[in-house]
Amino acid sequence: MIVCVCRRVSDHQIRQAAADGAHSLECLQFDLGVATQCGRCADCASRVLCDARSTGTHQQHVITMARPVQAQMA
Ligand code: FES
Repeated sequence: MIVCVCRRVSDHQIRQAAADGAHSLECLQFDLGVATQCGRCADCASRVLCDARSTGTHQQHVITMARPVQAQMA
């Protein structure tokens, strides 16, 4: 389904953006251009994003610390 007619952005693209780490309407605006023209899609885009995040279809960015490389003892 097309969510943003002006920028031709679908709910699938918004769900993919959520999976890629988008967490706010501002992220969607930056990533996809959603709600940057007439703005009528802002509420719907936010709902799709919220739904995608609440159903766990997004990935959480996990920061892992690299383990220090231990010197190999010969
Ligand atoms: S419908 Fe999204 S900016 Fe117009």
